[in-house]
Amino acid sequence: MLSQAINQRITRTGPGTPMGLTMRRYWIPAMLSAELPRPDSDPVRIMLLGEQLIAFRDTTGRVGLVAHNCPHRGASLFFGRNEESGLRCVYHGWKFDVEGTCVDMPNEPAESDFRTKVRAVAYPTVERAGVVWTYMGPGDPPPLQTQEWMRVPAESLDVCKHLGEANWLQLLEGGIDTAHSSFLHRSFLQSRARTLDTRGFRARSTAPKLEVVTTEYGYTYAGIRALPDQDSDYVRVYQYVLPFHQMRAFEGYLGHPLISGHIWVPADDESTWVWSWTYTGGGEPLPAEVIEAEKRSAGRLPNDVVPGTFRFRRNKDNDYLIDRQKQKTDNYTGIDVISAQDQAVQESMGRIFDRSQEHLGTTDVAIIAARRLLLQACDDVEADRDPLGSRLEAITARPAEMLVPRGQHWHAAMSEQLVATV
Ligand code: FES
Ligand SMILES: [Fe+2]
Repeated sequence: MLSQAINQRITRTGPGTPMGLTMRRYWIPAMLSAELPRPDSDPVRIMLLGEQLIAFRDTTGRVGLVAHNCPHRGASLFFGRNEESGLRCVYHGWKFDVEGTCVDMPNEPAESDFRTKVRAVAYPTVERAGVVWTYMGPGDPPPLQTQEWMRVPAESLDVCKHLGEANWLQLLEGGIDTAHSSFLHRSFLQSRARTLDTRGFRARSTAPKLEVVTTEYGYTYAGIRALPDQDSDYVRVYQYVLPFHQMRAFEGYLGHPLISGHIWVPADDESTWVWSWTYTGGGEPLPAEVIEAEKRSAGRLPNDVVPGTFRFRRNKDNDYLIDRQKQKTDNYTGIDVISAQDQAVQESMGRIFDRSQEHLGTTDVAIIAARRLLLQACDDVEADRDPLGSRLEAITARPAEMLVPRGQHWHAAMSEQLVATV
């Protein structure tokens, strides 16, 4: 349970808010590189941490991310002309490069130096792993921090983003809550052939013991499920990387174990960019049929999305297409795909849940630990200290899952599996 004041502190991310200032000390995924397909392609509106921004790719391929209001009299640069290495406002012709420098001011006398006194708000960007990253904080940006999925070859990786219609923290907490998968994602149908029947384990052993180990980037935590008819426990180990990343091992499809994860980035305080990435742990290419199977089950195929948007077709306006007959015969929810099952419960809590009304139990310890770290990070930023992990250049941790012989500790038994190889 959080007081309303603390709930406010941890959920609000707009300019000047404690959590907003904290998030702005980390690199943030802003958009897919593919949203700006070519030099001088059309500018794109991006909402990030409550700021309305315009992204454009200039003639040389660099990505600019600028405040949408032109610094002259505020017209939106969305309507701008993307030409000759700059975005030109269509109201009076002022032109800005990717750094926000005003490079032309054709409505002022030629001898005027007013141009040199005006800048557009512009955030630095870097492209990596098919994603445009930005740093919206003060001072020089730290190096872009990489995780293993950002270092593997492009053919081993799939990255996509969708829109969630609730506060970022609700979605993050849904992701790091390992206990819910025993219920929310339970299927009554024969599951596909898997290397480990992990979904079966989660259905049979519904009260995992959670252990959280704090690290230099966030924490490693294990959901330990006793399997009474076996002499091992099923242990699923996740990584939480401040402020909004999670990695999880995944049983995979068609014999290909996968590593996947999410990033939950506030668009504003009531909607969230949900990034999903998946790669093959060994660096081998990700077969098209494997990623197709993954997207089908998750509900992230192109026809799961409203055309021209990042919103899912199954959404709160249609109760995520719940089928009460299927709820009796097919699966726990009657909702077809995993992402819609998650969004149904996370969004049903309301746009920003009032955590003074909750009652946390023993399987919520990872959520409690994440809140502690986030609030500590806010305190650190207020005291002008770097928040946890913000200056780390590379995360070398991995998630993993395995059957750990009873009597062994997961941390020792899985020490090799928990380290990235790329
Ligand atoms: S408002 Fe943009 S140039 Fe005048
Ligand atoms: Fe889930």
